[in-house]
Amino acid sequence: MENLMEKIVSLCKRRGFIFPSSEIYGGFSSCYDFGPLGVEMKRNIKRIWWDEMTKLHDNITGLDAGVLMSSKVWQASGHLAAGFADELVECKECHKRFKLDEIRQPAEKCPECDGVLTKPRKFNLMMKTFVGPVENESSLTYLRPETCQGIYVNFLNAANSMRMKIPFGIAQIGKAFRNEITPGNYIFRIREFEQMEMQFFVNSLINKKPRKKRETKRERNAKNWTPDDWFDYWKEERLKWYLDLGIEKDNLRAVEIPEKERAHYAKRQIDLEYHFPFGWKEIEGVHNRGDFDLSNHSKHSGQDLLYFDEESNKKYIPHIIETSVGVERILLAFLCESYTEIKGGRTKTTKAVKEVESVLKLDKRLTPVKVAVLPLVRNKPRIVKKAKEVYQLLKPHFTCQYDELGSIGRRYRRQDETGTFLCLTIDFESLENDDLTIRNRDTMKQERVKIEELVEIIKKKINV
Ligand code: GAP
Repeated sequence: MENLMEKIVSLCKRRGFIFPSSEIYGGFSSCYDFGPLGVEMKRNIKRIWWDEMTKLHDNITGLDAGVLMSSKVWQASGHLAAGFADELVECKECHKRFKLDEIRQPAEKCPECDGVLTKPRKFNLMMKTFVGPVENESSLTYLRPETCQGIYVNFLNAANSMRMKIPFGIAQIGKAFRNEITPGNYIFRIREFEQMEMQFFVNSLINKKPRKKRETKRERNAKNWTPDDWFDYWKEERLKWYLDLGIEKDNLRAVEIPEKERAHYAKRQIDLEYHFPFGWKEIEGVHNRGDFDLSNHSKHSGQDLLYFDEESNKKYIPHIIETSVGVERILLAFLCESYTEIKGGRTKTTKAVKEVESVLKLDKRLTPVKVAVLPLVRNKPRIVKKAKEVYQLLKPHFTCQYDELGSIGRRYRRQDETGTFLCLTIDFESLENDDLTIRNRDTMKQERVKIEELVEIIKKKINV
């Protein structure tokens, strides 16, 4: 669709999804605030991911570590070394900066103006801060650039307190910060974002062994899976998750990253990419981190982080398979995927027939508002009163909106534009029969239902 990004940016501002940070002061570079509908959608994404990990998979527990950690963590993790730095080049003419890996090495010319580029130099992405009253080397630390380090340093705490046996996972959702040198594409690359990361600890002593013919992975005892088997398993699980939430197969792909382009901790890396209007881009990383993190934390802290395996009576450092995704980045992918324009005739009021109507065809689990309650007219007190009663009835059960402003056709369109799944209309008949109409966003079908059955009917329609 032409100008899709402009349309999404405009919709997000107008309809309360996303606002530029510190807007009244002219904005704050590459930081965004999430408005009333944006925060609901973000919460939906996080809840669906959390439930998927901790309820629908075996042996995964949760954690919520702090943003601030000892700076020693970042020495051990390799983030203070060259590992967590982007290579930056600057155009000598227009002074625009580019990440080297984004302009396809070796590029000698500026992609914008053909000017000569400087030699690449390293730029660390960590955000510094000081803890305590004195600003010196010993009080210096960093806002975490990835959430998973909080999991690694708590790996034994979580395992022991919950009596977890390998293979097991720890899931976490939280803020991460990166001083990106080339942020952009709206909320695709920002400086403050939320990550949803799951670290799966697996037996590192199991190596590849020949499989019996025609034996599928699911048939094999998961206890005997190698780290590579787990890597493949999680890649597939994560792809399924996106497809189940409405991402088209053609817009999703898994790309194996060659050794020299991998993150500094990764033995193997697959990027799950989405086809954004600005090209194929990573939305999630699946990494085999081997023993990189736990070995380094053990070495730097002097603590024994070995896991004791009761069955084999052996101690080992587990290997880690990680799935890591940014909430805002996939929120953008879901918006791009669901934004639809329908030319004329969707709403049958005379004015609307000629208009282009936009509909966010979000999965009903993702959509910020599930139900809108609309009195047919607002100058009939009995209709308004009944509609408000219905709104009060539904509010404890579903994310609802009450809307009485404008013609009913205009209100339907307003709700369609933000993806509201069901619109309820209270009309004159409702006063006589104690019923109302339910309109489905996608099929546009309307049906009359009794108000006393409403909560159960809506629960069925949106599967909650
Ligand atoms: N713990 C591994 C890790 O952090 P990553 O590939 O650097 O791996 C994982 O980041 C995911 O976090 C990315 O796929 C993306 O969804 C999200 N992410 C990373 N940097 C981001 C940024 N500046 N803005 C928004 N999301 C970001």
